[in-house]
Amino acid sequence: MSRRFQPKFFSSETWEGYNFSDLKIRLKESTEVYGAVLWPSAMVLCHFLETNRDKYNLVDKNVIELGAGTGLVTIVSSLLGAKVTSTDLPDVLGNLQYNVTHNTKGRCKYTPLVTELMWGQNLDQRFPRASHCFDYILAADVVYHHPYLEELMDTFDYLCQENTQILWAMRFRLDPENSFVDRFQKRFHLEELYDLPSLNIKLFRAWRRCKWTSDS
Ligand SMILES: C[S@@+](CC[C@H](N)C(=O)[O-])C[C@H]1O[C@@H](n2cnc3c(N)ncnc32)[C@H](O)[C@@H]1O
Repeated sequence: MSRRFQPKFFSSETWEGYNFSDLKIRLKESTEVYGAVLWPSAMVLCHFLETNRDKYNLVDKNVIELGAGTGLVTIVSSLLGAKVTSTDLPDVLGNLQYNVTHNTKGRCKYTPLVTELMWGQNLDQRFPRASHCFDYILAADVVYHHPYLEELMDTFDYLCQENTQILWAMRFRLDPENSFVDRFQKRFHLEELYDLPSLNIKLFRAWRRCKWTSDS
């Protein structure tokens, strides 16, 4: 099992850093694999979580991250006291687990769980709603030109229960992203929390339409 969690399939390893309070988070990444690179949206979401920790208090909250990549958002959320389920495709889980373990071990109230979640696949078996109720769904830069946008939408839809909030940092690149946001708004209320035009990144809070109308 431990062998699986070594990022050994990368031939071009680099390191990224992020400062959280007085901690230096170190992330192993590789330019060979999309999900093994730290994307700016993740840093935007982490900055938001750290600077809004009173309003969006993650202590003891059930959190799931979609497309966790190098794991920065998972690590910061865990350091902020959340019980985090960190998910991504099988290919990047080794690197993700490595980064999560090395940056959270002995520092967090709850040990984050790293597990596979392929958007739209076997959700009701892997994450039965009765036992998997998330307070927050976190996602950074998961919408771009890839063939699984409908599956991603279905995953948000499946995981987002009545009291779930989605915090989603999105980098706008091409048209598919804009139409995804339009379609997303048919199912979810959307509030813009940040707009960073120089980075083409927006941070959204979303929650399910119809069933939950309170802003609290
Ligand atoms: C642009 S990267 C963003 C990674 C990380 N959230 C960040 O911001 O640094 C997109 C992430 O989505 C994951 N991903 C892409 N397609 C996926 C799918 N069909 N199911 C699950 N994850 C997927 C990739 O493996 C990758 O980690």
